[in-house]
Amino acid sequence: MRKPLLAGNWKMNTVLQESVQLAEALNKLVGDVNDRDILVCPPFTAINSVAEALRNSVIMVGGQDLFWEEKGAFTGQVSPKMLKSVGASYVIIGHSERRQFFAETDETVNKKLCAALANNLHPIICVGEMLAERENNTTLKVIEKQIKGGLKGLAVGDAQRITVAYEPVWAIGTGKTATPEQAQEVHAFIRKLLVEMFDKPTAEIIRILYGGSVTPDNIKVLMAQADIDGGLVGGASLKADSFAKLVKY
Ligand code: PGA
Repeated sequence: MRKPLLAGNWKMNTVLQESVQLAEALNKLVGDVNDRDILVCPPFTAINSVAEALRNSVIMVGGQDLFWEEKGAFTGQVSPKMLKSVGASYVIIGHSERRQFFAETDETVNKKLCAALANNLHPIICVGEMLAERENNTTLKVIEKQIKGGLKGLAVGDAQRITVAYEPVWAIGTGKTATPEQAQEVHAFIRKLLVEMFDKPTAEIIRILYGGSVTPDNIKVLMAQADIDGGLVGGASLKADSFAKLVKY
C-alpha cells in the first residue's frame, strides 16, 4: 500500500516571518498525523527557518527546484547539498511554471532528477499537458514524452525513490480541477509507463500525486481513485486551516 503524500507548494509566496507562522500554525493542526506523509515546500529563503520550526514535527520540508551541479560559478542557483544543509529532504522538479517561464525541458529535468537522487533527496517530478494539448487529444502523448525524457536512464533502485506529480497546466491556479476520471486516466497511464520502463513492483511503489486546484472540498473524491496517491497543492496550502483540512481528507 502506498502511503498518501500531501505536499504544499508555496511557490513565490510568504516572506520569512509569514513562512514560519504558516509552518507553526500547520504544525499545531497536523503535527501528529502519522498515517500519511505531509510536506511543505517554502521558497529557498525560508527553508532553513521552516525546517527549524518543524524540527520535532512529522511535517517534512522540501525545495521547489535545484540545480544539478555540485558547486561553482552558477550565479543564482542552489545545489542539492545546499538544500539538504538547510533541512530539505524533498525537492520539486520540472514544475510547469518552471517549464513555462524558465525554459525547463525534459533534459534539464532529467539532470536535476539524477542530481537529487545522488544526494539522497526525494524528487517529485512534475508532468502535465497544456489546455491546447488536451483539446487536440495529445494529452497521453505529451505525458509519455515527459515521463520517458524526465526519467531517462534511471536505475530501478533509484526509481523506487521518486514521486511523480500529474498536474494538468490548465488546472493550475485556475479553479478548474480535472475530474477524478480525467485524473485517474492519466495516473493509470503513468503507472503503465512505469511498469514498462522499470517493473511492476517498482511501479506499484512510486506515488503519483495529482495537482491543479486541489482544495479541501475535492481532495476526497480525487483520493478515492485507484492510482491517485496524494496531492501537490499550491493555493490551498497557503492557509494553515485549509491545508490541514486537506491533509485530513
Ligand atoms: P494550485 O497549484 O493548487 O494553486 O492549482 C498547484 C501546483 O502548481 O502545484
